[in-house]
Formats: sequence, structure tokens, C-alpha cells
Amino acid sequence: MNVCVCVCVCVREREREREREREMHRRRCMLGLVRRLLLFAIGAIGLLALLYAHVGVSPSSQVANLPDSYKLPMQQEIGYEKLGGERGLKIELVPLPPHLSRTPLPACKLDGAAAVLELGKLWKPPPNRDYVPCVEPSQTYTLTEEPRGYLLVHTNGGLNQMRAGICDMVAVARLINATLVIPELDKSSFWQDTSNFSDVFDEDHFISSLANDVSIIKKLPKELANATRAVKHFRSWSGIDYYQDEIASMWADYQVIRAAKSDSRLANNGLPPEIQKLRCRACYEALRFSPRIEAMGKLLVDRMRSCGPYIALHLRYEKDMLAFSGCTHDLSPEEADELKTIRENTAYWKVKDINSTEQRAKGYCPLTPKEIGIFLTALRFPSNTPVYIAAGEIYGGDSRVVDLQSRYPLLMNKEKLASAEELEPFINHASQMAALDFIVSVESDIFIPSYSGNMARAVEGHRRFLGHRKTISPDRQEN
Ligand SMILES: *[C@@H]1O[C@H](CO)[C@@H](O)[C@H](O)[C@H]1NC(C)=O
Ligand SMILES: *[C@@H]1O[C@H](CO)[C@@H](O)[C@H](O)[C@H]1NC(C)=O
Ligand SMILES: *[C@@H]1O[C@H](CO)[C@@H](O)[C@H](O)[C@H]1NC(C)=O
Ligand SMILES: *[C@@H]1O[C@H](CO)[C@@H](O)[C@H](O)[C@H]1NC(C)=O
Repeated sequence: MNVCVCVCVCVREREREREREREMHRRRCMLGLVRRLLLFAIGAIGLLALLYAHVGVSPSSQVANLPDSYKLPMQQEIGYEKLGGERGLKIELVPLPPHLSRTPLPACKLDGAAAVLELGKLWKPPPNRDYVPCVEPSQTYTLTEEPRGYLLVHTNGGLNQMRAGICDMVAVARLINATLVIPELDKSSFWQDTSNFSDVFDEDHFISSLANDVSIIKKLPKELANATRAVKHFRSWSGIDYYQDEIASMWADYQVIRAAKSDSRLANNGLPPEIQKLRCRACYEALRFSPRIEAMGKLLVDRMRSCGPYIALHLRYEKDMLAFSGCTHDLSPEEADELKTIRENTAYWKVKDINSTEQRAKGYCPLTPKEIGIFLTALRFPSNTPVYIAAGEIYGGDSRVVDLQSRYPLLMNKEKLASAEELEPFINHASQMAALDFIVSVESDIFIPSYSGNMARAVEGHRRFLGHRKTISPDRQEN
């Protein structure tokens, strides 16, 4: 995704590029220095935190029973009307619970001009250096060719892996002159989500906005229902030759090619610019979430914003990812054992014997929720900063985020921002819940992933495309 983004965005003038390189060099020199300073700051604050703990203030006594009034005010009419106006949607919202006040919380207010000034710098997006979105086809771009057959796609993985795969398959369909059949979503991964394409994405928009690029249909024509399909695992990271020669040659024998998986990823480099641009159009313009997900996502964003600019924190700290990566820093021996057992019992995870200390030193572990709190404080985000947690279930539950919560009481998530009734249509669909997190993350003022991965990269790229929105990726490596 990262590299794809680089081609989705291009510089306005070539000359700028050389100047930029000189600038980059200067920056790199500075960066080393800043990084060392930052590490020092984190160390110092970590030490303080340690002392603080020893003084015997129990953070849990401050936070354990955070009242519901910490919920952001719901600002229903505003969010609702805006939504209705923009998208012409009708969404039924449950009435505002009586105990929720409509006025902003006192905690939202900032004090002092100096604080405002400093905060201004903190929230400022990076300069665009004249890089602008660059996805429009050139004048010589030809319209959709006469298709030679049909491409069926079985996507695999979680939401963001499927998204990336779908964007690639649009480009593949164009390369082999295929009609693309709306992809099937993965229903068997650990996400266990029965959603189909139109539940998660805006199917009609997807088809119509790519009409000049690839012909896309909802279902294989009836007369081909029984036709023999060439089932293929496309070779990972293949370029144009593989698809135009090897795959397209199958049209001689088959009318239907079925991609058994979608995560084979198209090459990032050496593709014709028109194909790169198509991939970007697919990802950033054609592949929208379904109207009801977009509407709910926007509602969450409005509720977050009602307190001012906010941080979206992609907090990777779920049980399965910890078990897989072998990261047990700061966990109890019992928890470490539980994770190890899960790893040993999961046949398709090949690496069983992992030394957590070494893993962490190399930067292969997510920051713990506590470390993220220290990190945010070190960057001087004030404690009244609204923070949205975009994540699955945190291993260890609420007790694991006690420290972070005590530093940043306006710690929100879907469940705190929306009522059970509002979330009900999405709750049993992991990919739809992830789509809500995706929207709130893309729209945030600052996005901070605690770990790399499909979602972190997809959101960072999408934000860059939409206007160089700020993303802060902590360097997790010890040095
Ligand atoms: C796709 O169609 C165009 C125009 O008919 C043709 O030039 C090109 O070779 C075709 N590509 C493949 C892979 O069949
Ligand atoms: C997609 O799911 C919806 C409801 O979840 C269902 O009504 C529809 O028939 C499904 N479509 C397909 C093609 O399976
Ligand atoms: C496909 O095969 C099924 C069972 O073999 C048969 O009932 C059906 O009529 C066939 N459909 C077509 C379009 O040939
Ligand atoms: C893990 O690695 C560290 C550093 O290399 C080492 O000190 C420690 O003994 C190792 N732990 C185990 C259980 O092997």
C-alpha cells in the first residue's frame, strides 16, 4: 500500500523534486538527533511513571468507575442533519439518553494562549510539498476493452487485506481483459463474518465509477454457472508479464478464471502508470463503504469532533496478535503461558519458539497500551485530548488500559460513542465494525498506529492521499 500511495500522489513540478531531495537529506540529519531526544524523553517519563507508581497512587482508584458522563455529548441533530443533507440518507437514531448533557464537557476547554499555540503546532498536518493526488487517466487511456472472459475472486483475510486485494484485482481484470464479477468476501477467516460485498461496500458505486476501466457485474451469467473454471493462486508480487502472458493465455481454454485468494498482491514497481493510477482510483475512489456504514462512521466522527481535534489510536493488542508475535512484555507469567499455548496449538503459525525480549528489541512488538500513554504524554498532548481507540478486544480487558485511561480520560471507542441500539446492525460483523474504525481513523486529526500491519498502512496511505493528514508511527526498535 505504501508504495502504491507514492504513485497515487505526484509532484506538481519536476524541479521541486531535486530541492526536496536536498531538504530530505537535511531532515535525515536532524531526524537522528530528534529521535535520540525523543527516546530520552520517553525514558525520562517512563522513569517518572515508575516513581509515580511507587509513591502509591493507585491509578485504578481514579479511573475504575469513570462515570458515563465522560461520554462525549451526542450532538444528535447536528450530526444527523449533516448526514442527511450530504448523503440523502434516512437513519433512525435512538433518542439521546436523558443523563447525557448536550453541552461540551468542561474537560474539553483549553486554558491559556500558550497552550493553544503549542497545541496548534502539534496538530498541524505536514506540508504537502506540492504533492497532489494523481489518479486521473491520461488522454490516451482507452476505455474498457471487449472482455475475453470472467474473473471470479475469492478474497481472503480481514477487512484491510481484502480491500487491498480487491483494488489489485481491478487492475488484474484490466490487464487480462476480463469482466470482473463482484468479489466474494472471506467468511471463514478468524473474522467469521457472514457479510457479503454489498453489506460492506457500496456495490453500485464501485461498478459505476470504474465503468470506463473494467466491466464489473454482480453475478456470473447463468449460462456459465456450470462452466469449468480455471482455479488459480496468482503468484505473489507478479508484474504485468505474468498476467498478460501466463494468466491471459488461459482464455484459450477457459471462459472463467477464479482467483482462489486475493492477497497475491500486484507488483508495486514496473507497472504502467495507467495501471497504477487505476489501482489508486479503485482503492481511494471506487471502493467506498456501504451507505449505512459511511453514515454510522460519520456519526462517530462528529461525536468525536464535538470535543475538538482528536487522535485515532490503532491499538494492536489483541490476544491472537500477541500469541502470534510472541510479545509478552509487561504481561503476567500466566498470560504469557496462555499466549504460548495458543501459539503452539495453532497449526498454521509456523514459528513456535519466540523470545519476547529479543522480539521486542528488534521492534517486532506493538507498544503496550501503557507505553502509548507515555508516548502521547512525551509528545505533550494534554490530558484532555480526545483519543479514539480503533481496535479489536484488548487482551486483558479494561485493566490493561487503566494507565492510558488515567492519562487520557477522554478515551473513546465505538461502544462508548454509540448506543447499543445504534451499533446493533454492525456488532456481529467484524469487517463492518472494522470499517467503522477505518472511517474514524481516516478522518482523525492525527492517526497513531501502535504497530504496523494492513490497517496501519492502509489508513496512513489513505490519509496521505486525502491531503497529507498527519500520521505518527512510533519507532519501536531499541537502539
Ligand atoms: C486486451 O485487449 C486489447 C484490445 O483488444 C489487446 O490489444 C490486448 O492484447 C488484450 N490483452 C490481453 C492480455 O488479452
Ligand atoms: C448478501 O447478504 C444479504 C443479507 O446479509 C442477503 O440478503 C443477500 O441475498 C446476500 N447476497 C448474496 C449474493 O448472497
Ligand atoms: C447446471 O448443472 C445443474 C446440475 O448439474 C443443472 O441442474 C443445471 O440445469 C445446469 N445449469 C445450466 C445453465 O446448464
Ligand atoms: C531471551 O533473550 C534475552 C536476550 O538475548 C536473554 O537474556 C534471555 O535469557 C532469553 N530468554 C530466554 C527464556 O531464553
